Amino acid sequence: SVLIVDFGSQVTQLIARRVREAGVYSEIAPFNRADEAFERLRPKGIILSGGPSSVMWDDSPRAPQHFFGAGIPILAICYGQQTMAHQLGGRVAPSDNREFGRAFIEIVSDSVLFDGLWKPGESHQVWMSHGDRVEALPDGFSVAARSEGAPYAVATDEARRFFSLMFHPEVVHTPDGGKLLANFVRHVCGLAGDWTMAEFREAKIAEIKEQVGSGRVICGLSGGVDSAVAAVLIHEAIGDQLTCVFVDHGLMRANEAEQVVSLFRNHYNIPLVHADAEALFLGGLAGVTDPEAKRKFIGKTFIDIFEEEAGKIGGAEFLAQGTLYPDVIESVSFTGGPSVTIKSHHNVGGLPERMNMKLIEPLRELFKDEVRALGRELGLPKAFVGRHPFPGPGLAIRIPGEVTKERCDILRKADSIYLEEIRNAGLYDAIWQAFAVLLPVKTVGVMGDGRTYDNVCALRAVTSTDGMTADIYPFDAAFLSRTATRIINEVRGINRVVYDYTSKPPGTIEWE
Ligand code: XMP
Repeated sequence: SVLIVDFGSQVTQLIARRVREAGVYSEIAPFNRADEAFERLRPKGIILSGGPSSVMWDDSPRAPQHFFGAGIPILAICYGQQTMAHQLGGRVAPSDNREFGRAFIEIVSDSVLFDGLWKPGESHQVWMSHGDRVEALPDGFSVAARSEGAPYAVATDEARRFFSLMFHPEVVHTPDGGKLLANFVRHVCGLAGDWTMAEFREAKIAEIKEQVGSGRVICGLSGGVDSAVAAVLIHEAIGDQLTCVFVDHGLMRANEAEQVVSLFRNHYNIPLVHADAEALFLGGLAGVTDPEAKRKFIGKTFIDIFEEEAGKIGGAEFLAQGTLYPDVIESVSFTGGPSVTIKSHHNVGGLPERMNMKLIEPLRELFKDEVRALGRELGLPKAFVGRHPFPGPGLAIRIPGEVTKERCDILRKADSIYLEEIRNAGLYDAIWQAFAVLLPVKTVGVMGDGRTYDNVCALRAVTSTDGMTADIYPFDAAFLSRTATRIINEVRGINRVVYDYTSKPPGTIEWE
């Protein structure tokens, strides 16, 4: 296995993901618990992540010093490079020539890291994000690639098998980055590259069995793919020690609640409690317009209902959730560093402190497409696994302003027409997520001979691989006008349709 030491980068999980893609098992440990993980795993390779700190700050994080004497290959990225250089006797300084974003590096010498990939004299695109830079290399290191702003874009000690990169190989904007990481884990560390999703399933099942013992688990179903995959996985591990609770907040898309109930009860025979709480949720949302207030209310109420249902079931001490990695990273900084909360994701941010159940989150380190692969591995119906993501807070965050039953019904109609058109055009699987948004804005229109004064509906469709970045889907004009016409003609309450042309960043996928 490979141990990834996390210094608080926003993209550390992407390193783990690339390592999984290379068919190798890895675990991430925060820098201050890396020792413990090292003892347990006895890794064949170590990767030091990037991070927001500067090695020149007092108390900035370090890798355990003995890692450098363990005879194990080390790949150090960005902040990892700086702390490695510093810890091995090199010198790091603030750079006058800060580089952020796309940059080109020139390869100046061979390295085993570049095997079959890069040759001296070539230039390659990478993704830089750094303020400091290494000024003097530690003994034994030499330059393998440089960029304009970074004389040591890649510096290596081939004998000790220490490799350091000033750029991020784990992000898609470094096109060869996945291959560099694969070279590290396979060629340098000698790992076989035969780890698969089937093994992930087995490993997780064993882990869940061990964690739960003879205890009882309740699992919150949201209606989406993630919680369903988590529930089926957990059911495989512990059978009827699991009860699923579907808290129906009334903020689902058209017919969705019925589909979930039938999939679990009839197809899987998994015990399911269907808690119809629409009135409670809509009551609590009355008058609430602030996005974070909505999210927090829904998250909290969701958990309240769980607790209540858990009380009825009796003896459940574990709560299972389908939290994915992007939910985690955008909600909290788990090395305790100062990272910004973009949105309180419903699965994470709404958890009240007083919750008295232990959490099981078997998908916590996965990205959406990996969850889909796991779902297929578990035999979930293809159409279900392929469904677009749907946020925990449901339609509430697609209705900016106050959420009412009437507005939910209007939105459901528009949304299902939109999705029907997308399916008819054969575009559903090419799109990561498509949905309608009901704006709290009324505009004037004319229908027949009459004046209308009604709501604006915005359509959103994006492509993405993990939800962390996204591009708009470029529908052709005919598709958009056909869909807009249908929505305006068929949905009472909407007289104008607009298309959202914002990528992420700077936008987010959902509107709230
Ligand atoms: P944003 O809007 O943050 O969304 O760009 C990224 C992805 O996450 C989904 N999303 C959520 N999923 N609970 C969830 O389970 C939430 O609270 C939540 N908020 C956003 C969103 O639909 C997109 O796929």
